[in-house]
Amino acid sequence: MKQLVIAIDGYSSCGKSTTAKAVAHLLHYAYVDTGAMYRGVTLHLLEHGIAFDDLPAVEQVLKDLTISFRRHPQTGRNELFLDGANREDDIRQMRISNSVSEVSVIPQVRHALVAQQQRMGRKRGVVMDGRDIGTTVFPDAEVKVFMTADMELRARRRQMELADKDEHVPLADIIDNLRKRDHIDSTRAESPLRRATDAVLLDTTHITISEQVDFVIDQVFSAL
Ligand code: C5P
Repeated sequence: MKQLVIAIDGYSSCGKSTTAKAVAHLLHYAYVDTGAMYRGVTLHLLEHGIAFDDLPAVEQVLKDLTISFRRHPQTGRNELFLDGANREDDIRQMRISNSVSEVSVIPQVRHALVAQQQRMGRKRGVVMDGRDIGTTVFPDAEVKVFMTADMELRARRRQMELADKDEHVPLADIIDNLRKRDHIDSTRAESPLRRATDAVLLDTTHITISEQVDFVIDQVFSAL
């Protein structure tokens, strides 16, 4: 069967990664969480005390740091590794969410990560979620979905995800973080978050995860 690229873009906490993972599983496709890669670079810069505007140091990190994904043998979860160490839980912390959009505006960071994402998807048969997949990483993706949802619902979802990891954050702080990230992500000069002209819009406010998955699968069948 023809191997496609499925691009799932949209705002934070709309259910992109849950949907993308389930679609990849059903189709036996690879799954790439591009947000995790921006989070990984952010974690590394913070841990090494590298200022985001120290461009020579940031460029050196982009050359030296190895970012990869591995599938957990028991849970099947796709986990982010930095230089061979599992950092999946660390990159999900609120301190990373609070800084990641500042790192993802840096053109050098975007160029390096977009190039790596293009290599990861070059054989196609991949579901990739992020902000610029359908516009910049794979403008020729056969399926493009742009996801959105009501702000309060997005914040409640993020709050539950954090609580599952024992991080208890007031709803107002999460709403503030999501608003700031949406703003920075949509207004940056380099590959801003926007709906590709040929992307189908999916508002997840009133639908279940399985309905979201069915919606994407329907798009896939129409593209085959
Ligand atoms: O998807 P997630 O919320 O984990 O993404 C974290 C951040 O990474 C986003 O708010 C955005 O700043 C950045 N990002 C990006 N381009 C992507 C994926 C994520 O700029 N393709």
